[in-house]
Amino acid sequence: MADKADKVKGAEELSRDQREISVSEFFEKNRHLLGYDNKVKALLTVVREAVDNSLDACETARIIPDIKVSVKPVDDIKDRYVISVEDNGPGIVKQNVGRVFGKLLFGSKFHKLLQSRGQQGIGISGAVLYSQLTSGKPARIATSTGDGKTHYMNLMIDTFKNEPEIIKEEIKEGKNWHGVKIELEVEGKYVEHQQSVSEYLKQTALSNPYAEIIYDSPDVKIKFERSVKTLPEEPKSIKPHPHGVEIGILRRMLRTTEARTLTGFFTTDFSRVGQSSAKEIIRLAKFGDDVSPRNIDGPQVEKLFQAIQQVQLIKPPLDCLSPLREKLIEEGLKKQLNPEYVVAITRSPDVYRGNPFEVEVGLAYGGELPPDSVATLYRFANRVPLMYQAGDCALAKAVSEIEWRRYGLEQASGASLPTGPIAIFVHIVSVWVPFTSESKEDIASYPEIIKEVKLALQDAGRKLSIYVNKKRKAGEAAMRISLFEKYIPEVADAISRLSGADKHKIASKLENMLKKGKIVIEDTGEPEEGVKQKEDE
Ligand SMILES: Nc1ncnc2c1ncn2[C@@H]1O[C@H](COP(=O)(O)OP(=O)(O)O)[C@@H](O)[C@H]1O
Ligand SMILES: [Mg+2]
Repeated sequence: MADKADKVKGAEELSRDQREISVSEFFEKNRHLLGYDNKVKALLTVVREAVDNSLDACETARIIPDIKVSVKPVDDIKDRYVISVEDNGPGIVKQNVGRVFGKLLFGSKFHKLLQSRGQQGIGISGAVLYSQLTSGKPARIATSTGDGKTHYMNLMIDTFKNEPEIIKEEIKEGKNWHGVKIELEVEGKYVEHQQSVSEYLKQTALSNPYAEIIYDSPDVKIKFERSVKTLPEEPKSIKPHPHGVEIGILRRMLRTTEARTLTGFFTTDFSRVGQSSAKEIIRLAKFGDDVSPRNIDGPQVEKLFQAIQQVQLIKPPLDCLSPLREKLIEEGLKKQLNPEYVVAITRSPDVYRGNPFEVEVGLAYGGELPPDSVATLYRFANRVPLMYQAGDCALAKAVSEIEWRRYGLEQASGASLPTGPIAIFVHIVSVWVPFTSESKEDIASYPEIIKEVKLALQDAGRKLSIYVNKKRKAGEAAMRISLFEKYIPEVADAISRLSGADKHKIASKLENMLKKGKIVIEDTGEPEEGVKQKEDE
């Protein structure tokens, strides 16, 4: 019991230890939350944060991306590398360079609902933090906005203040370019494996077929060439949908709105609320419209929140999303995997918790894909490859719920993936991707998402099965033909003895008949009997 303890500490005494912590200090101690839990993964995370930003910046500026990545070991220091990433994007204005790289939670993407790779403003500053923690060296930045001046900056993060600490700064004139180059020295381990930097870049090329990526690895120089020369449509930002807003967010929105009436608040700060829906919400919550949103607090927020849930609203606008679409997926798969057949399906957009999302899939079959191993699954969110933790991911779960045998593929019993020369591509785009953690590795299992992925895979599976079945039938026919071919000389000989006709003439006639009867594989676009029926059951 407390009163019998040797020495009871009072609140006063405890308060001496209580102090604020900065977000940088927090992540300095918890770097695993940002994807820096081991040396191999850390190397990949640094590259990924920089490349994601380069692609986001290029696409926002509508520039076709050219990206150079290099990973170089540091002489005489074990497990130490210099990573550099350079892009041809819009660059960063002088007054923001320090904060972009030297302040956690500084960014351009958090305050809007927009399909992009980054969200929190913690990606590249997190990489700078990891670099200074493990190498003690500053980040080296070069950037130009295309005005003939290049801004060079060496910086570190003051973790107590969460502010950039500029070590060296210089502006040079004369070089004509625009973009960003960042160089970071980090502790890491370079291993070629399933989740390596080169595998990540290959998958990035697959989901960004309009980007050219050059990779200078410790072993070889690899160039991932672009397979198309156009960018997908530009995604649009949207306002939140009332059904996707949690009560705490509603409270904050009420406090910070510029609207003076509740009707104004609902119709201008949200999407899909017209005058009559706004009035309906206010009526159900038993408020007058003259009440100022800023004066609503405590239990009144709860009343308003409950009223919102009761009103039927149109789904949020869905044209804000920018999927790759079928052609780009097919081109990417062809270019990077060299299969003999590809098919892609882009579904129409849907909504989870008020957030629009869209799913698309691709299947690649045959060609250079390994014939006897388990299929490869490529998962992507907003065009970023997801490399770790497939076990908990909604996308992987949906793939494992498909009965691949229905589509003419082999699948060991109990296996989650089919076996054979096949690659499965699954992509989700959303204004807010529901990652299960800050390191952005897998997608939360919303039933709406799993359902959309399955429908897309079934549709693509049906198309693939037509090809696979025709190929199998053609293979069987070819085998029968070659068997018959073997017996032609004997058959010709027997007929010639019976009829007295010339043996060679008979043989060549038989060969001709065989040739004419040969079967050609062609895609009629019609599903195989049975496949469609079984699925609908
Ligand atoms: N290569 C780049 N080119 C232009 N702007 C960039 C680049 N890298 C980062 N930025 C800017 O810096 C911000 C912070 O980046 P980051 O810390 O990775 O957070 P996030 O990508 O989540 O917003 C971005 O939102 C973007 O505005
Ligand atoms: Mg980022």
